Amino acid sequence: MGLPQGFRWGVATAAYQIEGAADEDGRGPSTWDTFARTPGRTRDGHTGDVACDHYHRWPEDVALMAGLGVDSYRFSIAWPRVQPRGSGPVNPKGLDFYDRLVDGLLAAGIAPAATLYHWDLPQPLEDAGGWMERDTAYRFAEFSYLAAERLADRVDMWITLNEPVVVMAYGYAFGVYAPGRTLMLDALPTAHHQLLGHGLAVTALRGRGAREVGLTNHYSPAWAASPADRPAADAFDAFMNRLFTDPVLLGRYPDIMGEAPFVRPEDLAVIASPIDFLGVNYYQPTRLKNPTEGPLPFDIVDISEYPVTGMGWPIVPDAFLSLLRTLDSRYDLPPLYITENGCSFPDEIGPDGAVDDSSRIAFLDAHINAMRKAIGEGIDIRGYYTWSLLDNFEWSEGYHPRFGLVHVDYETQKRTPKKSYDWYRDLIAAS
Ligand code: NOJ
Repeated sequence: MGLPQGFRWGVATAAYQIEGAADEDGRGPSTWDTFARTPGRTRDGHTGDVACDHYHRWPEDVALMAGLGVDSYRFSIAWPRVQPRGSGPVNPKGLDFYDRLVDGLLAAGIAPAATLYHWDLPQPLEDAGGWMERDTAYRFAEFSYLAAERLADRVDMWITLNEPVVVMAYGYAFGVYAPGRTLMLDALPTAHHQLLGHGLAVTALRGRGAREVGLTNHYSPAWAASPADRPAADAFDAFMNRLFTDPVLLGRYPDIMGEAPFVRPEDLAVIASPIDFLGVNYYQPTRLKNPTEGPLPFDIVDISEYPVTGMGWPIVPDAFLSLLRTLDSRYDLPPLYITENGCSFPDEIGPDGAVDDSSRIAFLDAHINAMRKAIGEGIDIRGYYTWSLLDNFEWSEGYHPRFGLVHVDYETQKRTPKKSYDWYRDLIAAS
């Protein structure tokens, strides 16, 4: 299936997962620094202190992208580098880093796509309540403004939030990601305050000349374990998928939000500010059954009839296609970008020095074909970014999962392109 004119092939990363240099050039601590440095929070105590040392090695990484021939690079701007306390004065050295990176990308013919919030909330803001507090939304809009003021003349594409559902669920409800709070259903204000921050940031970004503004959501098609478990699947869909899309595209919350006191009547119009694109991250479907106990309206059950990735996630490219169809039928969609899709496998360097990751190639091939099918059906998809350029810090799993097209040896920081790197390069060249 032919791709639309101007279709963008890309790779994606995020600041805390690759940059390292955690205490350098005036960067302040984020919730992820605090969380990862707390014993027992991440596998083997791994932290993002050094990560892929991208802060220093970015020219090499840009060269790797140039070698791939990607049209665009999705990265994130670390709020604690730009505003170390989450409010107040800018740290010029923090913005200088992104300035250099953006210029390096443009010189290589790669369009920068910047995410503003990929989970690294400045710790002082968390100390004041984090996303449970309405004020954090205003702080986020201010940070967005400051970033655009410096970069919007060269960065066309701006993604406000990355996967706000994960921040709410893993960060504030279940406590497995920073900031590690276990508020369960009481974490709902973090959904609203992130979305409000998104809406306010849309206006702030446009005011500073940003041309394309949107947000990126994580979507997981909800499968009922049996017909009787439909309510559980519907509830999961409402909490994990629709909660972060209905208010943006329909101007209303799903019923689960109820008459929330923290939602002010005027907020929904802000959240529903028109966006230029919706970013879609897809990895896997989820199977649900009605709960036996506990406060949640669903229990997650294993999907065992499909092959799985290194994360144990089922590989179901058809679910990607059905997700795209569902989004298209439920909403009057803006253009879509697939802002993440990819897989981890326990990739190793072979005796010949090569990394044979044919499972990743098969995964990407099948998912890209599903996307092409959706495009053929008339769904307006303008780009695809694979996660990730490099192996990197996979949050609470540390450096164990390897998601990259490029292998990273964390002892030496040596980068070794995997077989999938060559495959993706050839695919881009042929399209
Ligand atoms: C989504 C997140 O945005 C990214 O940070 C993470 O590494 C990938 N999923 C893989 O889990």
